[in-house]
Amino acid sequence: MQSSAYLQCIDPACGLQYPVTDTRIECEKGHLLDVKYNSVPSPSLKEVFYKRRNHSNNIFNESGVWRFRELLNFCQIDTENLDQCSKYLVSLDGAEGRLSKPYHMSRVSQYVGLQNLWLQPEGYNPSGSFKDNGMTTAVTHAKLVKIKKIICASTGNTSASAAMYAANENMECDVYIPAGEVAPGKLSQAFQFGAQVVEIKGNFDDALTASLKQAGQAGGYTVNSVNPFRIEGQKTIVFRALEFLDWNPPDWIVYPGGALGNTSSCGKALMELYQWGWIKKIPRLAVVNSEGANTLYTLYNGKFEDTELRWNKGKADTGLIKRYYEHMDKNQLRPKTKATAIQIAKPANIIKGLRALDFTNGVVTQVSDAEMLDGMALVGLNGFDCEMASGAVPAGVKKLIGEGIIKKDETVVGILTGRQKDSSIPVDYHKNPQNKFAIPPRS
Ligand code: F0G
Repeated sequence: MQSSAYLQCIDPACGLQYPVTDTRIECEKGHLLDVKYNSVPSPSLKEVFYKRRNHSNNIFNESGVWRFRELLNFCQIDTENLDQCSKYLVSLDGAEGRLSKPYHMSRVSQYVGLQNLWLQPEGYNPSGSFKDNGMTTAVTHAKLVKIKKIICASTGNTSASAAMYAANENMECDVYIPAGEVAPGKLSQAFQFGAQVVEIKGNFDDALTASLKQAGQAGGYTVNSVNPFRIEGQKTIVFRALEFLDWNPPDWIVYPGGALGNTSSCGKALMELYQWGWIKKIPRLAVVNSEGANTLYTLYNGKFEDTELRWNKGKADTGLIKRYYEHMDKNQLRPKTKATAIQIAKPANIIKGLRALDFTNGVVTQVSDAEMLDGMALVGLNGFDCEMASGAVPAGVKKLIGEGIIKKDETVVGILTGRQKDSSIPVDYHKNPQNKFAIPPRS
């Protein structure tokens, strides 16, 4: 099945369009871009996607991303033609998205007080985080436009994923990281996969500024989530969750919030599925910030200048965002959380994130480091692995239930974004008997 694809500015009043082979991440007016498709995919594809789980050694059926390739066919290929798939689609031998689907974790369910809680461990991706869903598509686009070198800033997982796919595709990869603020297991992956690590004094926001500047000057191809093709791949996180639920949407989908790529991709996936008539109900999105890096929480809930920041049909109050960023800079308010994955103060996708929250009637909450650690520990005690930032999901669900926002009879899918890559965190947690779920060592 072939479709035509193009890029379009997300601001409905602007709507500038570009060919799908363009590598810009913003329109001329500085707004983010969407990948758009002309065709309306038939709901009969649901059956095709399901059948592909019996993959017969076809890596594009085995891949939990490319299994849904008709819904992200920006290469405009014949998706049933294996030669075309092999020529265009980048995959780590079908490994991305293969093991991640919703699981029931009884101890977490009990703790948060919700029977119908499903948690989807995206850490069970080849590089250990949800990033592989979007990196496989971003690198596919890079290959389509004959890019030899990709570049990103990262709190560690993006760089691990970018470096892994670059190595596998024989591309160069530069990763800009905040020096001393990246989990050791993530940093080691960047080196292991042969990336050029560039250490930046400062935080993730500074590293992103530096990498975007370098990309602009040297013509590098950015694979951060401001790249619209990253967002396309990350839609499959939602597709897998919905497929598991027989395409009956849950009441809520919950993510930790950092740069808001996931929030944006979830919104886009739901907007498309709803528009195509594949789903009749729109789940509500809940984004969980860390208290130490809570820009979205602050702005969305009117905690700055008493104004609730909203999508406002594409005319979000960017002045408010700018003033808040200036306020942070002036008062040296730096993001600070032990969950370094989401230690981000200036979420690059904030406008797309607002659109997702608007479409889904979403909410934004925040949790403390201690709450995230408890969430992480409890997932571990169910036999599943996740990192501290992902612990924000059980912690956030518990908080929202406590506030009566999520009701006890509702169905919730929470995305556990990455696996543990800092072994000192669970070791320190369990060595301290003060911690709620600690099992201290015996001597
Ligand atoms: N969880 C984990 C484990 C992450 O690594 C990230 C982001 C997030 C949540 C936040 O996701 O940005 O889509 O809101 N990590 C990025 C990185 C920034 O560089 O690895 P988001």
